Amino acid sequence: MKVIRAYAPASIGNVSLGFDVLGAALAPVDGTRLGDEVEIASAEQFSLETVGAFAHKLPGDADSNIVTKCYYYFCEKMKSEGRQLSPVAITLHKNLPIGSGLGSSASSIVAAFAGLNAYFDSPFDDNTLLTMMGELEGQISGSIHYDNVAPCFLGGMTLMTGATSPVTLSLPLNDEWYYAICYSGISVSTAAARDILPKQVDMSTALTFGRQLGVFVHALHAGEFSLAASVMKDVIAEPYRKSLLPGFDEARAYSDSEGALAFGISGSGPTVFAVCNSKAQAEKIADYLSSNYIQNEDGFSHVCQVPKLGTLITSE
Ligand code: HSE
Repeated sequence: MKVIRAYAPASIGNVSLGFDVLGAALAPVDGTRLGDEVEIASAEQFSLETVGAFAHKLPGDADSNIVTKCYYYFCEKMKSEGRQLSPVAITLHKNLPIGSGLGSSASSIVAAFAGLNAYFDSPFDDNTLLTMMGELEGQISGSIHYDNVAPCFLGGMTLMTGATSPVTLSLPLNDEWYYAICYSGISVSTAAARDILPKQVDMSTALTFGRQLGVFVHALHAGEFSLAASVMKDVIAEPYRKSLLPGFDEARAYSDSEGALAFGISGSGPTVFAVCNSKAQAEKIADYLSSNYIQNEDGFSHVCQVPKLGTLITSE
């Protein structure tokens, strides 16, 4: 019997300076798999089983699960192209906490679509799949943004184009940066964290946003990593969202005092990240965050890098 497994990593949305347009995949350096996984096998009729550390936080009925929605959406697309389908049994390993700012919903969506596409012998190309992933992500957060689904699917650090093809561009990676990430254990809804933002920004904020993004992209291409890090400042969301995050100012102050290159909110939070020059610096900051930023038993910290690869498919 054919079984496909798809693992889709956690990701940082926004990466501070690129609200809704920049994202990065995450891979813990100790080899921990920080991401959701789906298994797809043939069956008489469709079914979804949920397992894993955060499965108990998912809606109780399978029909409300985003993976079920992905499956039906995928079926519709297949049928509209006159392609054959057969029922499958899906198991979702829900390893990422919900409302964590680690791209938890994106991880389930990407694993589901990438897994289904592999199971049915790759009917859709990457760009079509990304569009489908963005649409489903939009159903959850209230607006379509690709800053989690794109890096989760493709790996690396990705910049959204605003066009339909290509949806995203990959930015150069560097091996020098380590990311200390910490999930505090509380849940922040993306929709609520978007509602808290002003609907318009003033001229000076718009100019800073544009300048930073331009400098950042140039600096990565030129290999000027300290210049790139110097513009990783969130002028759009952090000033408003940090009020939702207990301990945020203290965590940032510690990270700055240790000489981290940058510090910010991952996606809509509460996860925070510090960009570090060395693994030792990232470990020290991750230890501090574990002791001081985590609010309950669901929280955790990791030292990560941005992996080249995103979603991993295996078959047996
Ligand atoms: N760019 C989105 C936001 C990411 O910050 O609202 C949410 O995960």
